[in-house]
Amino acid sequence: MALDYVEFTVYSDECDAFGHLNQASFLSLFERARWEMVFRGVGKDLFSASGVWPVVRKTTIEYLGQALPGDRLRFDQLVTGLGNTSFTMQQSATQAATGQPIATVELLFVCVNSAGKPVPVPDTFRQIYAATTQAHPVSVNGVRLAVEDVGNGPAVLFVHGYPLGRYIWRHQVDHLSGWRRISPDLRGLGQSSPGRGPGRLETYTDDLIALLDRLEIPQVVACGLSMGGYVAFDLARRYRNRLNGLILAATRAEPDTPEGKKGREAAIALAGCAGARAIAETMGPKLFAAESIERAPELVASVRDRMAATTVPGIVQALEAMRDRSDSRPLLPDLAGLPTLVISGAADLLMPAEGMRAMAAAIPGSIYHSIEGAGHLVPLERAEETTAVIAAFLGGLSR
Ligand code: MLT
Repeated sequence: MALDYVEFTVYSDECDAFGHLNQASFLSLFERARWEMVFRGVGKDLFSASGVWPVVRKTTIEYLGQALPGDRLRFDQLVTGLGNTSFTMQQSATQAATGQPIATVELLFVCVNSAGKPVPVPDTFRQIYAATTQAHPVSVNGVRLAVEDVGNGPAVLFVHGYPLGRYIWRHQVDHLSGWRRISPDLRGLGQSSPGRGPGRLETYTDDLIALLDRLEIPQVVACGLSMGGYVAFDLARRYRNRLNGLILAATRAEPDTPEGKKGREAAIALAGCAGARAIAETMGPKLFAAESIERAPELVASVRDRMAATTVPGIVQALEAMRDRSDSRPLLPDLAGLPTLVISGAADLLMPAEGMRAMAAAIPGSIYHSIEGAGHLVPLERAEETTAVIAAFLGGLSR
């Protein structure tokens, strides 16, 4: 498995006379982070087995904040481009506790053989990083979003749930040809950096609008799952002119109940004291249909590992955002005229199918589809069927 991040503590011998992490030490920490991720992830054999070694050709570093002895820094990395003999990588260092940006670096690597001659990037490396190379970083509103932007045609914007990432839309992004598929990691989740301050649902929405502006996309079909559905409702409420269709998967229009808000507080406390893995262990079993747990244990384990790799600030901000979100029920009748597809997992424990059916009934003209054998993570658990349902809906929209 490829690792996306590691954490290190800053030691005083890495700091200058004023007690700040020294600029040269940043470079060695970034390097240590890269090797640590190779050793603990795919393994050093990745390169040595093919007799190919990557060497740094160019480094561009930006220092954004100070780090002091004892600070715990988180290093994230993303392969952002793959050529014949070269590849580019972006790394970022943030304060692990707060998500405050400390530095970013962009590196150009060239693969060489033992004689120092440039040679093609090994196939194993290409395969392992295929998923991440599809993403490129886009800076909006002070954060760096990891974004996949593939295909041509009218655009569909995929919005994932909590505490997940754009990977839940893998099959749909790979297969909905004829459409431009935009799939970002929301701030603080997946491979996107967390912002500062308390979490607000509107912040995610504003990031997405800024992203569409950057990509010069005037209108999209917004497709949101669960928390992504809450964001899609907010897009429909505040940016209706940017939508030409809506897909609501495994979500709900109701706000949190007082009981639900208490649950969010408990989860915030758990994330703060026991970290992302504890959240992943609690959430994991609720996300899948029993059938999926039986049929695809490796999928369940990989989602749990990905959730456990989420930043704590990203988790806390998402919980705050969901806790304080608006009631979208008054919006439902107003969605008349906006083509809407509602998809539920027939065995979803978090967003039961009956609630989804009732929500669809309150949206004039909407189409409702329940997918048998799927739990909460419909697009992953029943990937092909979900893609087919979405393709049929998109096919029926006037372009
Ligand atoms: C999600 O999957 O996004 C969350 O479970 C939604 C929620 O907790 O309300």
